[in-house]
Amino acid sequence: MNAHIKTPNGPLTEACTVIIFGVTGHLSINKLLPALYHLEAGGRLPDDVTILGFGRRDWSDEQWGDEVLNKIKKYARGGLNEEVFKRFRQRLHFQQGDLNRKESFLELSKRLEDTETFPANHIFYLAIRPQDYHFATKNLVAGKLHEEQHGYCRLVIEKPFGHDLESSEVLNTQLHKHFREEQLYRIDHYLGKDTVQNILVFRFANLLLEPLWNRNYIDHVQITHAETAGVGGRSHYYDSAGALRDMIQSHLLQMLALVAMEPPAHLDANALRDEKVKVLRSIRPISRNAVNMHAFRAQYTSGHVDGENIPGYLEEDKIAPGSTTETFAAMKLYIDNWRWKGVPFYLRTGKRMKGNNFLVSIRFKRPPQQLFKDTALEQMDPDWILINIQPEECLRIEMQVKKAGLELETRTTQLEACSCDKKFNIDAYEALLLEVMEGDQSQFLRFDEVSWAWQIVDPVLRSWMEEQDYIHTYPAGTWGPEVSSRLFDSNDQFWRNKLDHILCDID
Ligand code: BG6
Repeated sequence: MNAHIKTPNGPLTEACTVIIFGVTGHLSINKLLPALYHLEAGGRLPDDVTILGFGRRDWSDEQWGDEVLNKIKKYARGGLNEEVFKRFRQRLHFQQGDLNRKESFLELSKRLEDTETFPANHIFYLAIRPQDYHFATKNLVAGKLHEEQHGYCRLVIEKPFGHDLESSEVLNTQLHKHFREEQLYRIDHYLGKDTVQNILVFRFANLLLEPLWNRNYIDHVQITHAETAGVGGRSHYYDSAGALRDMIQSHLLQMLALVAMEPPAHLDANALRDEKVKVLRSIRPISRNAVNMHAFRAQYTSGHVDGENIPGYLEEDKIAPGSTTETFAAMKLYIDNWRWKGVPFYLRTGKRMKGNNFLVSIRFKRPPQQLFKDTALEQMDPDWILINIQPEECLRIEMQVKKAGLELETRTTQLEACSCDKKFNIDAYEALLLEVMEGDQSQFLRFDEVSWAWQIVDPVLRSWMEEQDYIHTYPAGTWGPEVSSRLFDSNDQFWRNKLDHILCDID
């Protein structure tokens, strides 16, 4: 069952222990611990959930509690609530250990034998560097922690799942030696976002869209993710990954699949994933000599973001001198199936851009008959459906209407549904952590999704790896290089960057 389309109280969750590897890392501090705390604050964390941090520091439970307190003070939505934290703190325990040492896992296993404190259902969250997955899982097995004799064992794995098709297959084979597919939760946090869920509801709960949602009426689809942030403290990872791997292979291709897929027979995990896979495998492969027609990359130079001076990518800490890693990537893809044949899907992402926006823009074709061709309306703007995923959640339809007056002139009018009420904001990680506890895999990736996504981007990655002598640039604080519009199939196509303004009548 889909977690977001169930009753507000959700299904009952069994008691469990959430064991987090990499507790001092960026992901744990910024996302996981705040998400667990917010679930506590919202009364959504079942009473018998225990959280065990695993890390190298020589901390007692008490000391880790203090550390978490400091982080929550900084990252909690709306600040810290002392009462809530008091409850939350009782769940927190710490286990000192080294991911690379088998002995540490034997000690962990011993500690978990105390089932009074640590419920026997185990969720292992690998919030660690991808290159450490291998040791962590090997040692989990050495400590017999993958066995499910007294309760379930679930493994949560963050993206990137591999570095390319081949390495993802190796990782998958390694995991499957000891874990069943039902134990694996491959995270793409975009699938936990509320508006992303809304794409399914918008498409499949509204009959009026279905007749229009195809090649007969849609000119093209754009999926844009822009962020003002740079690489933060993740230079090492980012410089070896780049925007295509970091965002397009995972999040943006998932968005494309949700926009383009056929209605699933049910909302269960496999039915949903079957439909997404059908889309991904229908994407026309990009041949080696067509890479430039289908893909574009660039890197930011110094500039201004929100009035602040920003150094260029090459001047950032720990970036290899002369690196040609892309911080901006765009692709044009065709889905060769009955519904979408011939409709270009443009995907674009960039760091240090002018705004923080994730927008799906669907442009309709122009009417077949130029009825107004001898009037001032010779060329009317086409209709658009815009799905704004962040920062605000918003669905907008743009249509043409006549301006009041004697002249035959048009203006664009908007039908808009926005959810601006921050009270209902729930972070993707909150939703996804609950789903792991509930054993619902529908918002997690099956390996065939990951594998098809790698097959789509692999030829581009290989070609870019060979062409290391030049990369386009754009000043930080812009929407990326204009020349990226060379991907468009026709002159009247252009990038939509963001919703100009949003009508929010709720505070
Ligand atoms: C992550 C990428 O998966 O998504 C980051 O690794 C990126 O580079 C982030 O900044 C964007 O996520 P969000 O939820 O902030 O849009």
